[in-house]
Amino acid sequence: MSYSPYLLKGQKALVTGASSGIGEASARCLARAGASVVVNYHSEKDAAEKVVRDITAEGGTAIAIAANVAKEDDVKAMFDQMLREFGTIDILVNNAGLQKDAAIVDMTLEDWNLVLNVNLTGQFLCAREAAKEFMRRGVKPDISCAAGKIICMSSVHQIIPWAGHVNYATSKGGIDMMMKSMAQELAPHKIRINSVAPGAIETHINTAAWSTPEAKAKLLELIPSNRIGVPEDIGKAVVWLASDNADYVNGTTLFVDGGMTLYPGFAKGG
Ligand code: BGC
Repeated sequence: MSYSPYLLKGQKALVTGASSGIGEASARCLARAGASVVVNYHSEKDAAEKVVRDITAEGGTAIAIAANVAKEDDVKAMFDQMLREFGTIDILVNNAGLQKDAAIVDMTLEDWNLVLNVNLTGQFLCAREAAKEFMRRGVKPDISCAAGKIICMSSVHQIIPWAGHVNYATSKGGIDMMMKSMAQELAPHKIRINSVAPGAIETHINTAAWSTPEAKAKLLELIPSNRIGVPEDIGKAVVWLASDNADYVNGTTLFVDGGMTLYPGFAKGG
């Protein structure tokens, strides 16, 4: 690891959707930076418990809590349990998200609602509960110069339109405006809110895009850095944004995408 292992010492973090992929890597990186971590999961209990065991084995502190972030009661119960067990929250990583891809003419209302409910409403519900606790507790200068930090997991598709994925791209575009509006509203309370926008990261959400040589070659054409990202690329960015090293960073999106948003088609044309 290239960052200080004590960057987040004494801080309490909640990572939603942390049983796999980007959420899992974020939880592991936060724990290595010294934070105690809630590993939230929806249905993958065994996987979440393995993340907790691994973090504990490395000398960190973690617990797993089940919750569907799209359900208000689940989210409230998760925060209640976190506050009971960890005392407070300093860092929320709003990560849980999914894809339900279809051509627009075939997209069911159910698939539209599911993606918007988890990806966007889920982030709202968790941010609201975190903000309440940040405001109640205020700044503890020996812990952090902020009263709290929220990191919203967005995507390059908050700006790159995505045919066949209208529900997903819409949810990510919505996250951008939700993040910025919340950051503007909560900055006076010393709360920082930012997004990370990953490009193509090797996880189970996009296996089809990188698991065969043909698919991988096509995907690499969209990535100027010529490699597919790994979940730790995002975990490291999350740690930095959550740390006091990023204290003057508020209401912005950090694209971690190997240059995917650089209009790669123009490298040889235009
Ligand atoms: C999506 C992936 C996709 C990547 C780049 C992500 O937000 O979840 O499926 O590979 O964007 O297009």
